[in-house]
Amino acid sequence: MTAVADRSLGPDLDLVDTISADTDVLVIGLVSGDDGPTIATLEDEFVDNILAPEVRAALQEQLRAVGAKGKAEELTRIPAPTGLDVKSVLAVGLGAADKIDAEQIRRSAGVAGRALTGVGLAVTTLSGLEGGIGPTAEGFFLGAYTFTAFKSESADGKPDEQPVHKVELLVGDPSVSYRKGFNHDWVIAESIATARDFVNTPPSHLYPAEFATRAKALAEAAGLQVEVLDEQALADGGYGGVLGVGKGSSRQPRLVRLTYNGGAKKVALIGKGITFDTGGISIKPAANMENMTSDMAGAAAVIAATVAAAKLELPVTVIATVPMAENMPSATAQRPGDVLTQYGGKTVEVLNTDAEGRLILADAIVRAGEDDPEYLIDVATLTGAQMVALGTRTPGVMGTDDFRDRVARLSRLAGENGWAMPLPTELRADLNSKVADLANVASHRWGGMLSAAIFLKEFVPEGVQWAHLDVAGPAYNTGGPFGYIGKGGTGVPVRTLVSVIEDIAHEDAAE
Ligand code: BES
Ligand code: MN
Ligand code: ZN
Repeated sequence: MTAVADRSLGPDLDLVDTISADTDVLVIGLVSGDDGPTIATLEDEFVDNILAPEVRAALQEQLRAVGAKGKAEELTRIPAPTGLDVKSVLAVGLGAADKIDAEQIRRSAGVAGRALTGVGLAVTTLSGLEGGIGPTAEGFFLGAYTFTAFKSESADGKPDEQPVHKVELLVGDPSVSYRKGFNHDWVIAESIATARDFVNTPPSHLYPAEFATRAKALAEAAGLQVEVLDEQALADGGYGGVLGVGKGSSRQPRLVRLTYNGGAKKVALIGKGITFDTGGISIKPAANMENMTSDMAGAAAVIAATVAAAKLELPVTVIATVPMAENMPSATAQRPGDVLTQYGGKTVEVLNTDAEGRLILADAIVRAGEDDPEYLIDVATLTGAQMVALGTRTPGVMGTDDFRDRVARLSRLAGENGWAMPLPTELRADLNSKVADLANVASHRWGGMLSAAIFLKEFVPEGVQWAHLDVAGPAYNTGGPFGYIGKGGTGVPVRTLVSVIEDIAHEDAAE
């Protein structure tokens, strides 16, 4: 395990077997029940014994006295009872005992992590829950995530507004037994924070060339091979989709290719990298247009997941193909009615310049297909229709039947909620164009998420196992914080992608 987590992205984490003397806050889990809440009994007996029976009884009594119920993600903070050498105790609800799973632990640790603002050192017993170490690490790390790159010192320098500095996870034997799982989930949390950072960086500062430069630096630091196609290379290569979408902007498009050579099996990842989507000449309304800074979230997740695969040394080859462009209206922008030639030769009539994601993805999918991958996954904030169909927290998963179902299942196991959606064959005819091979939108708005996927399907090579994730809503949180997710970039679907790559890595073992 060469993985070293990047501490600049979140709090420091460590595994310990005692409560350090200078600990500020002890975070414990509280389980709801008919006879009132109880302090979570831990799988790891050693950790359970850290709270002496009388301390535990006093804690439980005090928590009940102040009205704690143990409801999922409820927070109750009380002074430490005598006999417990910390300044205060933060009890976080876990809900009913029979419903506690990895995602619940992650969410509860997340709300605790958010509540620990201004705290120096916290220690937690959540890591003693069954399977709790990884989710606890991830929940605290991501809950404490903040994006302050554009806040001046005076705004964010106050110590009481800083995220928790360090969280110690109580375990039975911190020396060996849990290290591997702990590092694994920490690397994933770090990758999620990386994806969030990309998404949260405003479009003034993250435009295609800059995005490519940052992706290259990140990937090279992890030992990946990197290739960046600039506008000239894109023109020479015939990437008509990326060029068509990018030509309205003074900031030229890019296509980034990252290769992690980990083994014989090959997975292609493709991510939509629209650094800002105004809609182009088919311009969007002003209200909420600023949220279109998130239109490169697919690209961010794909880059972060590819780097994670390398850091985790997964025995699979992962090749990311990431098209980046800014969709702007201008005298040089493409027009509704223009016809462009995608990479590979298919022609597309651009009826709506706001359906730009599919145009850059089509080029990238064809290019990715040339590497002969067994699996191809594309990720995109592709349609508003995704949110109409599934809401803001459920990614739509489409593609070839078996792989689509596998990806959706793994996404749910990972706590990212992917849901399988169909590709009804009758919708294909609605993409027929009178002048080109294909139109980029249908003449009606029904099944908009599916119609976009059906467009992409035209470019997926025969015989490849394909999954398309539409994360328009889930990748970017415009509402209040919840669980381990704050406002802005969420990092979805990094965890799904890493889980799928791991599942592919291990599939031979199961056969
Ligand atoms: N980037 C948008 C999709 C989107 C909408 C993402 C809201 C996140 C939040 C995409 O490029 C787009 O504009 N899609 C159009 C497609 C339509 C023109 C067929 C849409 O959904 O309205
Ligand atoms: Mn658009
Ligand atoms: Zn878009």
